[in-house]
Amino acid sequence: MSQQQDTLTIRRPDDWHVHLRDGAALKLVADYTARQFARAIIMPNLTPPVTTVAAARDYRERILAAVPAERNFTPLMTAYLTDQISADELARGFDEQVFTACKLYPAGATTNSSSGVTDVANIRGVLERMQKIGMPLLIHGEVVDPEIDIFDREAVFIERILGPMLKDFPALKVVLEHITTEDAVQFVSDAGPNVAATITAHHLEINRNAMLVGGIRPHLFCLPVLKREKHRLALRRAAVSGDPKFFLGTDTAPHTREAKETACGCAGIFSAPIAMESYAKTFDEEGALDRLEGFSSEFGPRFYGLPVNEETVTLRRREQRVPGVIENEHLSVVPFHAGETLAWSFEDADGS
Ligand code: NCD
Ligand code: ZN
Repeated sequence: MSQQQDTLTIRRPDDWHVHLRDGAALKLVADYTARQFARAIIMPNLTPPVTTVAAARDYRERILAAVPAERNFTPLMTAYLTDQISADELARGFDEQVFTACKLYPAGATTNSSSGVTDVANIRGVLERMQKIGMPLLIHGEVVDPEIDIFDREAVFIERILGPMLKDFPALKVVLEHITTEDAVQFVSDAGPNVAATITAHHLEINRNAMLVGGIRPHLFCLPVLKREKHRLALRRAAVSGDPKFFLGTDTAPHTREAKETACGCAGIFSAPIAMESYAKTFDEEGALDRLEGFSSEFGPRFYGLPVNEETVTLRRREQRVPGVIENEHLSVVPFHAGETLAWSFEDADGS
């Protein structure tokens, strides 16, 4: 019988899907991501959204100012696609290494997506240009058609929008973000090497029962919404498969406690404080700790054409209690696993 593994040292991971917000919230949350990850793809759904090279440069500066100086952290910025956005502005930002990618939010699909794209026909010129210059398109893959059940919105998006889009732009580099269904796993597996997906820690750990059985738990409400168990199992198989199309993206999405615990609560789970511990739990349960490094630290850079990180971090089997709330003088946010004890702890290179 093999011995239980108690420490795991891997290349420093990157987080390919992060909401850092702005202002006081940015100051509160940024270091939780910077502590664990060398790089992070920063989502542009601020108010107003990040649609210009100048706005992305400024936001990048605010992020770097919010992270302690000793961190070696690189925010990778994204542009928020609108119906009117200019392909020239995007291409210039990509060329100047300000924009790493573009984010497609179907208008109305999620938090701060009202200026998003109302019909992909409106951005055909942009997609054509992105395909030509190799600029990745990151997709929130849910339809907004009111007739489509919220639990089916990802699968219908794949069928109605993503499939046809990839027929029109077969070489476009696409990341289907925070996938939640067996359908998405299948689609991405079957697609060409230019199509990949991120998977969150929470979609690997819990299904919709965790959110709805015994009372409604607003801190587990996110978009795309948690699905039924068979989908969670498909995501787990994909994450630990060693298939480089599937890599880490936490979708850490903090909202204040008041914005979550209310009659119409915001979508988003704040997982940054225990991100790697949470992924380690899944990989450990699947007997696949040896696959965590590929998923967290190798497949993402490979897809984006970036070097892997040379620093290492260590995960140790040592219990930690997750705080019930994370706050500063301006706001309080309830993290994923608040008040629970986790089996794994994250250690920096310096052992902190
Ligand atoms: C995100 C947010 O709050 O910005 N919310 C979420 O539930 N994931 C937006 C998003 O990624 O859909
Ligand atoms: Zn997100």
